[in-house]
Amino acid sequence: LQPKSLAGKRVLLTAGPTFEPIDPVRGLTNSSSGKMGFALAQACVEAGAAVTMIAGPVTLPTPRGVRRVDVQTSAQMREATLRNLPGQDVFIGVAAVADYRPKMVSAEKIKKSGEPLTLVLECTSDILGEIAARPDAPLCVGFAAESQHLETYAESKRKAKNLALVVGNLVQDGLGGETNRVTLFDATGAYPLPPAKKIIVARCIVAHLASLMEKFDGKPRA
Ligand code: PMT
Repeated sequence: LQPKSLAGKRVLLTAGPTFEPIDPVRGLTNSSSGKMGFALAQACVEAGAAVTMIAGPVTLPTPRGVRRVDVQTSAQMREATLRNLPGQDVFIGVAAVADYRPKMVSAEKIKKSGEPLTLVLECTSDILGEIAARPDAPLCVGFAAESQHLETYAESKRKAKNLALVVGNLVQDGLGGETNRVTLFDATGAYPLPPAKKIIVARCIVAHLASLMEKFDGKPRA
């Protein structure tokens, strides 16, 4: 029997979209289905890790063996992620976290007036950036979802956030569907993977992650 590549490791990950309310019946979200994050959670469990997943609003079943915390907003995702961070060996940001949220949330349903409505948005906190910048940061893996110039944007995210590994994907390849086509970016180069079902892609990501952890004796540097 092969030893499991993440045996004894603790992995925290985020998955799915966030939902930022505008009023009691409306909000801003995106098309992330959660499938990539849930597949990665499953692949980490298969590799022997203890996995905690902070999940945005999706209807997927929890992979066997995964501890799941459900949240709605980016602020709740940040709070739940930071609360579960102590003792983790790896953090993986798969969630499509809102970059902006409405500055004011109306307590009552906004009534239609026939006039244009202006929403003022404010920046949310960058959960991955905040965790990767901590002196006690676990090994941090980011995703980069782009609609063009994947290599340039993914590499700049890896360097800007000081990440050991970035998984780059084009939104047209990965968002919502059953399959994905990703390129892995680490300090040694770019490694394109063939298009495949998300669980297969997830297992390849875990294999690369495990080899990085082994190479750097659990303390890889970006
Ligand atoms: O859910 P699926 O339908 O299966 O689709 C999968 C996916 C396309 C959503 C997934 O593969 C993916 O690319 N996830 C990251 C989406 C994203 O928000 O990418 P980004 O390039 O905007 O963000 C970069 C990184 O920062 C990500 O790791 C993200 O989780 C993290 N981030 C971003 C903003 C924020 N406020 N906090 C964060 O932690």
